[in-house]
Amino acid sequence: MTQSLTGKVALVTGGSRGIGAAIVRRLSREGAAVAFTYAASTDRAEALAADLASSGASVAALKADSADPVAVREAVQATVERFGRLDILVNNAGILVSGNVEDIALSDFDRQFAVNIRAVFVAAQEAARHMREGGRIISVGSVGAERSGFPGTTVYSMTKAAVASLTRGLARDLGPRGITVNTIQPGPVASEMSAGMETMLIPLIALGRMGQDTEIAALAAFLSGPEAGFITGAALTADGSYLA
Ligand SMILES: NC(=O)c1ccc[n+]([C@@H]2O[C@H](COP(=O)([O-])OP(=O)(O)OC[C@H]3O[C@@H](n4cnc5c(N)ncnc54)[C@H](OP(=O)(O)O)[C@@H]3O)[C@@H](O)[C@H]2O)c1
Repeated sequence: MTQSLTGKVALVTGGSRGIGAAIVRRLSREGAAVAFTYAASTDRAEALAADLASSGASVAALKADSADPVAVREAVQATVERFGRLDILVNNAGILVSGNVEDIALSDFDRQFAVNIRAVFVAAQEAARHMREGGRIISVGSVGAERSGFPGTTVYSMTKAAVASLTRGLARDLGPRGITVNTIQPGPVASEMSAGMETMLIPLIALGRMGQDTEIAALAAFLSGPEAGFITGAALTADGSYLA
């Protein structure tokens, strides 16, 4: 165990399950105090927090719907109030509402934009007010930003392309303050979001398997740490060669 994040404070959005929960566990294992948000999975959020706390970690589960910008802003503020500072923001919360263009409801268009991109902007804006030199903003985008791959993900893919673009702008804005901003673009990862799609997805992946949430968490931990100090404005893909 490297404990490269000892003394750091992190906030992970959407940390109750899936990739977000793996990131919470990994950053905690690296020594960070970790707050995480959730919207619906209260039992799983509380179980994760209790599990980490039982091994001595500093952890806080915060109910905050990413569709609500006030709740997102308050989650950042609550993290700073609870742990005294903020060093790492991981924008992970995301939703996928599939549907071909003829069918997708405007309400699903709006909700995906609210959760997948507006919340990323709001969290980064508030986090930037609290971060010092060495701060890290990491957003979980998707390979969907670069390749649609199959029908039904038009709106979701648009939001993830916007995440990569937002990352580049934020990197320019915050670089002079020594804060790095990056996107992780996972390919297909086994989680509730991808459940039932494995048979369709695996043939599109050169490694012939789904990614694991821990593999995405490892990249998030690296980007959070001191050795990633010159990486900013990047979209880093971990996809088993889905894009290749
Ligand atoms: N799985 C993949 O293949 C894949 C590939 C590329 C990118 N991604 C991206 O990776 C991220 C995590 O995906 P995942 O596969 O782990 O998804 P998941 O299994 O569906 O988990 C989503 C997480 O986000 C939280 N969340 C959803 N809506 C929220 C909201 N409105 N406010 C706050 N939290 C919310 C959920 O918490 P609650 O249950 O409490 O709402 C849960 O913790 C997403 O941004 C996704 O787009 C996933």
